[in-house]
Amino acid sequence: MTLDFLGNLQRTHMCGDLRVEQAGENVVLMGWVNRRRDHGNLIFLDVRDRSGITQVVLDKEVSGEAHAKAEAARSEYVVAITGTVRRRGEGLGNPNMATGEIEVVAKELLLLNEAKTPPFSPAEDAIANEEVRLKYRYLDLRRVEMQKNFRMRHEVARAIRNYLSDEGFLEIETPFMTRSTPEGARDYLVPSRVHAGHFYALPQSPQIFKQILMISGFDKYFQIARCFRDEDLRADRQPEFTQIDLEMTFPTQDAVFRVAEGFLKAAFATTGVTIPTPFVRMTYDEAILNYGIDKPDMRLPSMISLTEELTPELREALKVEKALPVLGFVIPEAGGLSGTQKRSMVDEIRKIFGDCGLDFLDVARLKTNDAFAPLAEAIEAKLALGATDLAIVITPKLGTPAKWNHDGQWIYKRVGALRLEMAKKFADKHKRFEQTGTEADYKFLWVTDFPMYEWDEDAKVWNAAHHPFTSPHEDDIKSGALFNDKGAVRALAYDVVLNGTELGSGSIRIHRQDVQAEIFRSLGMSNEEAHERFGFFLDALEYGTPPHGGIALGLDRIVMIIAGANSLREVIAFPKTAKAIDLMVDAPTLVSEQQLKELNLRVVGRT
Ligand code: AMO
Repeated sequence: MTLDFLGNLQRTHMCGDLRVEQAGENVVLMGWVNRRRDHGNLIFLDVRDRSGITQVVLDKEVSGEAHAKAEAARSEYVVAITGTVRRRGEGLGNPNMATGEIEVVAKELLLLNEAKTPPFSPAEDAIANEEVRLKYRYLDLRRVEMQKNFRMRHEVARAIRNYLSDEGFLEIETPFMTRSTPEGARDYLVPSRVHAGHFYALPQSPQIFKQILMISGFDKYFQIARCFRDEDLRADRQPEFTQIDLEMTFPTQDAVFRVAEGFLKAAFATTGVTIPTPFVRMTYDEAILNYGIDKPDMRLPSMISLTEELTPELREALKVEKALPVLGFVIPEAGGLSGTQKRSMVDEIRKIFGDCGLDFLDVARLKTNDAFAPLAEAIEAKLALGATDLAIVITPKLGTPAKWNHDGQWIYKRVGALRLEMAKKFADKHKRFEQTGTEADYKFLWVTDFPMYEWDEDAKVWNAAHHPFTSPHEDDIKSGALFNDKGAVRALAYDVVLNGTELGSGSIRIHRQDVQAEIFRSLGMSNEEAHERFGFFLDALEYGTPPHGGIALGLDRIVMIIAGANSLREVIAFPKTAKAIDLMVDAPTLVSEQQLKELNLRVVGRT
C-alpha cells in the first residue's frame, strides 16, 4: 500500500471537539481508525484521538479517491481527514457519543500509516487477558478508559503540586542512587562499576533526605517522588510507585493533617467532588476496637460489642466463653437469606476462622426460643438492625483460651477481617462500594497514636512499628515508659485512610540524638550497627536539628480509588506484573558477560 505524506496539513480540531454548532465548517481531523463499517458506496470510519471519537463518512459520490482509500483502511490505521461537519440525519444520532449529533463528510483521506491486525482492539471496553494488555501496553493505553485514567492522574498530580507550592512548599529532588533507606522492605541494588563490590540502593522513600532538608533549613519540602521496594506485590503494591512526599519544620500533628487534607481536597475537586474536611480522627486502639483493623473502611457500619448483652448466665446456657468479648456487625441490605444460603454462609465463616475457637451465633434462631428471645431483641437493638439487614454475631467457644487474645485485640482483628470478607461477599446487595461520583463514595479518616513498638513473640524482641525515626509521644518519654514499658509507648505516627486503604503514613520525627540513640538501642541495634547504617544521619542530627515531621501519600493509590479501579496497574502507565516483570519491555533480563565483568560481578545462579 502507498502511504500518504502529511505535508503541511494541520489539524484544526480534536476528534472529541465537534458539535452541531460547527455544522457546515471545514475541518481537519487526525487519529486512528477505531472502527470501520463498509456499506458499499458509503464507508464509515470512527476516528479516534485522545479527546474522543468522530464518525467520518466516505461517500463515493463526494470523493471516489477518498472512498477507495477508506476501502483499504483497517482498524488502527493512522489517518488524516479533510471534510465538512454535518448534522446527522433524523434518528441517526448517537446519544452515547459526545460527538454523536454530527459526522464529518470527508473530501480527502490520507492514510498516514498502516497497522498490523492488533491482538485486541483498543475499541473494546474490557479486555479479559491482562497479560496481553501488558505485553501490548501501547495498544491498551489507546483505550478510552486508560486515556481517561491518565488524564485524571495528571490533573490530580497537578492540583497537588499547585496546592503545595501555594502553601510555600519547595519541590526538591532527592537521589535515586543512594544507600539503604529505612522503610523495612528489601532494597533494589545498583552495582557500582567504579567501586568494585560496592552497591547503591534505590530509595524505598526519600525519608532520610527529607529530614536532612529540614536540618538544612528548607522549612517545607515536597516531592512527587518515585520509590522502589522489593516486596511481595499485591493489587495495591508495585515495586516502583509514586509518593506525594512532604516534610515540615516545627509542625504540630494538626499542621501536617491540615496540609494533607488541603491537597486531597484539591485533588478530589479535579473530579468535581468536594470532600468534607477536617477528616474524622480515631486512635489506633479505637480503630481496632471498632473495626478490627488499623485502616477502617467506614463505608460500612462498625463492629459493636455485645459483651454486656451476653451476660455470664446467658453465656453459660449458650456455651460461650466468659472471659472473652462478643462482637457483632451488620451488613446492610444483605438480610433475608434462605436456610441454604445461611448454612453456606456459616460454613464459610467457619472456614475463614479455621479452628481458632470462634463461632457464629444465629440471632434469628435465638428469637424462636422463649428463653433467648429477649437476648435476640437486645442484640438487634444494639446493632440497630434494619428489616433488610444481615446481622452477624461472633462468639468465642467455651474453653477458647484467653491467651489467644494476649494483646487484647486478637478477637477484634479476626472479626474485623470477617466483616470485610462479608462486605465484599454481599457488595452487590449493600451497594456501598459503588462509585456514584459524589462525596459519599469517599470515607476518609486519620488513625493516630499507633503503638511505637510491636512485640515479636517468636524472636522475643520489640520491633519498630514504623521506621525508626518516628518520635514517641512526648508524654511517654517524660513518663519513662520509653525506657521501661515499651508496650505502652505511643508513636507520634499517623495514617490517612480512605475506604479501607492506607493512603498515606507519616509522623513527627525524632530530632534529639539521645532519643534517637535510645530507639536504635531498644530495637536491638548496636551503636556500631546504627553508625554503619545511618551514621551520616546521626552526625547531621548533632548540628542543630529542628523539630520536624511530615507524611507521604501514595499517588497511585489515590488515583486508583478515584478511577474506581481495582489495581494500581490501571493507573500506572508501564506497571509490573505480580511477579515484578514488565511484559512489554521484557524486564528483568540476563545481561552480557562483558557487562558483568565491567561491574566485577559473577552470577552464581539464575532462574
Ligand atoms: P510508607 O512506607 O507508609 O511511609 O509509605 C507511604 C505510602 O506510600 C504508598 N505505598 C505504596 N504504593 C504502592 N506500592 C507500594 N509498594 C507502596 N508502598 C507504600 C502507600 C503508603 O501509605 N517515609 C514514610 C512516610 C513518612 O513517614 O513521611 C513512608 O514511606 O500509599
